[in-house]
Amino acid sequence: MSAMKFISIREALEKGSGKVALRGWVYRERGSNVLKFIVLRDSTDIIQCVLDKAKFEKQWDSIDKLTIESSVELEGEIKKEPRAPTGFEIQVDKLVIVQTAEPFPIAKDQSIEFLADNRHLWLRSRKMTAILKIRSTVFGAIHEYFRNNGFYEYQSPIFQSVQCEGGSTLFEVPYFEQKGVFLAQTWQLYAEPAIFSLEKIYTMAPSFRAEKSKTSRHLTEYWHAEMEVAWANFKDIIDYGEGCLKHIVKKVLENNKDDLKILNRDPKKLEPTVKKKFPRITYDDALKLLKDKFKIIIPWGKDLRTVEEDKLSELYDTPVAVTRYPKEVKAFYMKEPDDSDKKHPVVNGVDFIAPEHFGEIIGGSERESDINKIKARLKEQGEKVEHYDFYLDTRKYGSVPHGGFGMGAERVISWICGLDNIKDAIPFPRTMIRWKP
Ligand code: 4AD
Ligand code: MG
Repeated sequence: MSAMKFISIREALEKGSGKVALRGWVYRERGSNVLKFIVLRDSTDIIQCVLDKAKFEKQWDSIDKLTIESSVELEGEIKKEPRAPTGFEIQVDKLVIVQTAEPFPIAKDQSIEFLADNRHLWLRSRKMTAILKIRSTVFGAIHEYFRNNGFYEYQSPIFQSVQCEGGSTLFEVPYFEQKGVFLAQTWQLYAEPAIFSLEKIYTMAPSFRAEKSKTSRHLTEYWHAEMEVAWANFKDIIDYGEGCLKHIVKKVLENNKDDLKILNRDPKKLEPTVKKKFPRITYDDALKLLKDKFKIIIPWGKDLRTVEEDKLSELYDTPVAVTRYPKEVKAFYMKEPDDSDKKHPVVNGVDFIAPEHFGEIIGGSERESDINKIKARLKEQGEKVEHYDFYLDTRKYGSVPHGGFGMGAERVISWICGLDNIKDAIPFPRTMIRWKP
């Protein structure tokens, strides 16, 4: 090729006229014995390119054989062409074939299983490209939100010696000759000790859950945005959750309008999250709403299931924060508030339920400060309290009111993108039945 500088397809479309040099992959191709049309794809967009046999006599054989996903570099004149997929077309003057692809396995109408087996190739689809771009915005926005609010980024180990969210979803891993080594379900028990050092911390890291359920919302490996704050009360934690979700959605609406369009996702559905205050209701309110609006009767003390969360989500166009759950359905570390009923004890735990049936996107709480209550609850759950000595030290040496939350990145991405299944929110999903490629 000549010395022309390569630009992206997006930049070429913005330029709209004159000479351009592009490189990318053949997204579609068709030809006759005088013309070859290729739709070129790069990370930014697609554009139709026309090659005239008269200009490429010597190269015609190989041009004629160009296959989908072949990689090429080209130079030519861009001009308006209303019939082309993105409204412009390039008359190609020069072409370098970097590699002629073997027949691409993914054609139209392939089964979900086939696409999952060929995930490494399916990542190139326009759908996955759009989702991955939104995912990048979401990750960037999370870092930005916490850093802008004075948080330090901090990391917990992934090999851990304790459980935090219940033994049933714990992955035990072979660790030399040792037993009792697990993959992180959460950073939490290793984050709480660090607030005595840094006060406000967050992380973005993988968490692991041995979910035996094959739902559209559960992964065995997911990316977990977590935060923990010293000197914080329950309201502070809910405020941070709301602030963070607002910031994420705002950034996606600013940066990913085109990607939402490719996904057929109406941005209007997301706008209320940025503009409106999220409703905050208690578990008791939730039971009453379920009964009054949907005739669903839940006995007090039972956890809300997916179906009930989905019903609640129909009442709002933003996420809703549900608080003060029954103590027995929540984790051992959640704080029992002073006004908790002795007969019906509750905890200052909060779940943020996304609109449109996208389920729980954040789980958080104020943390119990009473070391004896924590020990009692660990024992109730059959845990060996001495395994938690390091954690319990947080309540012995300068304990302060504190709390935090965890946000499932893929749950948030599923909701923002309007995905049918959480598996498309992550490049290589891992579930009970899928760990390859
Ligand atoms: O509600 P969870 O279990 O809370 C915790 O792990 C706390 N220790 C967090 C904290 O306070 N630091 O999980 C938090 C969030 C859920 O709200 C959900 O969004 C996501 O993690 N999540 C999952 N996402 C995908 N697949 C799974 N199997 C998930 N399990 C939880
Ligand atoms: Mg939860």
